[in-house]
Amino acid sequence: MTALLEVQGLQKRFPMGGGGMLPCRRAAPSFLHAVEDVSFTLRAGETLGLVGESGCGKSTLARLLARLLDPTEGSIRLGGQEIGAIPAKRFGAIPATRPGAMPSTRPGAMPPRAAIQMVFQDAEGSINPRHTAFEAIARPLRQLSRLSGAELRTRVERTAALCGLPAELLGRFPHQLSGGQKARVGIARAVATEPALLVLDEPTSALDVSVQVVILDLLRSLQARTGAAYVFVSHDLNVVRLLCDRVLVMYLGRVVEEGAAETLFAAPAHPYTRALVGAVSVPGRRKGEERVRLSGEPRSPIDPDPQACRFHGRCPIGQDLCARAAPPVHELPGGRRVACHFPLTAGAMAAA
Ligand SMILES: Nc1ncnc2c1ncn2[C@@H]1O[C@H](COP(=O)(O)OP(=O)(O)O)[C@@H](O)[C@H]1O
Ligand SMILES: [Mg+2]
Repeated sequence: MTALLEVQGLQKRFPMGGGGMLPCRRAAPSFLHAVEDVSFTLRAGETLGLVGESGCGKSTLARLLARLLDPTEGSIRLGGQEIGAIPAKRFGAIPATRPGAMPSTRPGAMPPRAAIQMVFQDAEGSINPRHTAFEAIARPLRQLSRLSGAELRTRVERTAALCGLPAELLGRFPHQLSGGQKARVGIARAVATEPALLVLDEPTSALDVSVQVVILDLLRSLQARTGAAYVFVSHDLNVVRLLCDRVLVMYLGRVVEEGAAETLFAAPAHPYTRALVGAVSVPGRRKGEERVRLSGEPRSPIDPDPQACRFHGRCPIGQDLCARAAPPVHELPGGRRVACHFPLTAGAMAAA
């Protein structure tokens, strides 16, 4: 089956304001390497988890996918089309060809689907405080297609209902809604246009655990209904285990490991993944099983040494080679990849 999303060699570098105290010395410009050489594919209906410590580039990657940032290099194709080449006014719309899509209010007419929509961590901050819940959900629909007032109201109310928002709440402003209700508005706004790809950047991390569970259930049921692909950013590995088919583990802008969620958590092949997985209680893990603890801080993402593994210095199994050569990417069975000189392949091969 061909991929819906194909990301190839994606890179985002932020220029750092240089200059400083010595105007006569012309230093080479500095760059913060937020996302480096990231490649992966995603099929319709699939959920990819994006995990890693704070600052490793998850949100930058999410924003690149949602075209909120332009890449420094690399390509992002959706349905075979480069997303950067889609004219701005058409961005967000690809023809709806999928059978079973949410029916139009006009019989026979298929409403267009958005290409990519994003759900933000901070529902409060991402919804205009002067917009009612109705207006927030209606905006992307209006942008995508011309709907009559009645059609628009029907679509907004139906999406809101699917997201567990009663019609009475639609006239409210964000400050009149609870945290869980705001999260639902953020999700309804993103799914109203039935995007082929939904990028979710820590959508539940600001919520109480009980609300989190309900919202994750909602996301799952919406996906079953719409067949959308999800890129799900989270630092909570237990949530990622529950929701994701595959996982990308990032470290300082680079993908260090990719694999099916089940095998990756059961037998991490990268020492960093192993440390991450060891830092949370994973159901089924045997008591007393070795846990790897990380010491020290990550290296600086500014002008990192291209000749060294970025994890070197913190890696519990690092050797001299890791300081001298960037690690190769090993392809393991089961679509698994690991970027390490010394992958923990015995466990990985057994589980793959
Ligand atoms: N607009 C920006 N300008 C400069 N640096 C940025 C910008 N956005 C993010 N960064 C830097 O890029 C790195 C990755 O950040 P981010 O993608 O937010 O990580 P995460 O979401 O994993 O916490 C961090 O070092 C962050 O400081
Ligand atoms: Mg982030």
